[in-house]
Amino acid sequence: MTPPSSQQPTKIVINGDIYLSEPLEKDIPSIIHHLQEKEIYDLTLQIPYPYDKKNAQDFITLVQSRKKRYGRLMDWAIRNSRNELVGMISFQGISSRDLENDEIGFWLAKPYWNQGIMTEVLKKFVEFGFKEYRYRRFTLSIFVFNEASSKVAEKCGFVFQGLAEKVHCKEGQLIDLKLYAIQNPKHPPGVSFN
Ligand SMILES: CC(C)(COP(=O)(O)OP(=O)(O)OC[C@H]1O[C@@H](n2cnc3c(N)ncnc32)[C@H](O)[C@@H]1OP(=O)(O)O)[C@@H](O)C(=O)NCCC(=O)NCCS
Repeated sequence: MTPPSSQQPTKIVINGDIYLSEPLEKDIPSIIHHLQEKEIYDLTLQIPYPYDKKNAQDFITLVQSRKKRYGRLMDWAIRNSRNELVGMISFQGISSRDLENDEIGFWLAKPYWNQGIMTEVLKKFVEFGFKEYRYRRFTLSIFVFNEASSKVAEKCGFVFQGLAEKVHCKEGQLIDLKLYAIQNPKHPPGVSFN
């Protein structure tokens, strides 16, 4: 994919305490530490459990290969004022044909939950995606029992699209997904793929 501009932003400021930037090798201990929390695994699809050093190293390698493949940073570390990684948010790169339509995925370290952080992060991340990466639409696929994520989606202006039944099988259980979407109001119409 061609980068939308030659000047790629490297930092997204959320507020005085939180910002987003590239996840790096130095973040491996924080990633391992935070992902010992089983509740994060229970509410997501791609995060392994138990989570070890190899998982974190593979993740950092993946971040770099995705950056190269898409020509821009897709995976962003959520950082506190001490520059520590306290979560992740990503453009997932779900479609190889309609590159303006993508899914967002995220997690936050448990000590930071319920302080409004992800709501602020997601709002700014969507704004950034629309403006800097010129996305047209974002989706969120949320496990039906993930009340906090649904709340975050709604607070950020995502619109509930419907329930998709028995989409994923995790540990022998079929999981229903709540699908949410948000459209870029400023995106030029008529841009489509062949
Ligand atoms: C989902 C997640 C990112 C939310 O982050 P957060 O910073 O705690 O979210 P916020 O504080 O901005 O908002 C959470 C909202 O959910 C509400 N909430 C939390 N748990 C809830 C529950 N069990 N039932 C109903 N509402 C709940 C909070 O009260 C808050 O709403 P409010 O502002 O109206 O009070 C975080 O819980 C997380 O990382 N979970 C594990 C991974 C995950 O679920 N990833 C997303 C997969 S789609």
